[in-house]
Amino acid sequence: MQVQVQQIVVLATGGTIAGRADRAGDALGYRAGEIGVDELLAGLPAPEGVAITAEQVAQVDSKDMDFALWHKLAMRCRHWLDRPQVQAVVITHGTDTLEETAWFLQRVLAPDKPVVLASAMRPATALAPDGPQNLADAFAVARTPGVQGVLAVCAGTVHGAADVRKVHPHRLDAFGSGDAGPLAHVEEGTVRALRPWAASAGSAGLYERVVATKQWPWVEIVHSHAGANARAVEALQAAGVQGLVVATTGNGTVHAALEQALLRAQAAGVRVVRSSRCLEGPIVAQAHEALASTPLTPAKARVDLLLSLLA
Ligand code: SIN
Repeated sequence: MQVQVQQIVVLATGGTIAGRADRAGDALGYRAGEIGVDELLAGLPAPEGVAITAEQVAQVDSKDMDFALWHKLAMRCRHWLDRPQVQAVVITHGTDTLEETAWFLQRVLAPDKPVVLASAMRPATALAPDGPQNLADAFAVARTPGVQGVLAVCAGTVHGAADVRKVHPHRLDAFGSGDAGPLAHVEEGTVRALRPWAASAGSAGLYERVVATKQWPWVEIVHSHAGANARAVEALQAAGVQGLVVATTGNGTVHAALEQALLRAQAAGVRVVRSSRCLEGPIVAQAHEALASTPLTPAKARVDLLLSLLA
């Protein structure tokens, strides 16, 4: 009997996980994304019974992530996920905008196989890089039966796309999932689930709309804070902004001066969505509110608004 070999595809985009230091062992003076995916994988033991296929999609510092790369990444994921022998896709990605890419891919692909984002806080040339272990953990997650959806694996913790956010600029365990908590831990190569794997139905036709899009909508994030005023919103509206996410105080509250400007912008056709700037906990919406709200973080709310404006 012929044994069907499963395949895991690694799509590399850059980040500190592929960072090369100017001087050996330097953890700060490095260039993200310099090391190619073949070199990254060379030092890792291949998971047993699985063929690894690697593809260099980009070599960027993820602070510079853009729509063209999201577009390409979504297409490469779909290409591989559609192949029956492909068990999972692992994406190497910088930590800085990983939560945005994770949510974008979850919304656009809603995959019923695992798409696992692996990252690192230390460059590959550091004295003790964290990337190889994070990649090995990503493979362990990718091979675990029943896992689905877009996930992020870092420092032995598995986060879902909806909840993951970068919470620390230096710590190796740089991500959190707010009060929802992580989905699982990876311990000695074994995945211990804490709650069910997130499943979500895709929005009909969204992938096709993303692929066909040449000009992305313009969506900005504005903050409500002490001393907020109308000027930034008025300037953005005059310049043609199509969507505004408001990072609000507390449970969706907005400074009165800013709120008036937002209501005027909304009346003029700008889409406005409120998202709490609190580190944990969603906005609990009240009935009859003039400005819509979302439980997502401001960065993810912006992704949602971009996608809904594509329609
Ligand atoms: C990046 O986001 O590409 C650089 C920072 C990191 O990966 O930690």
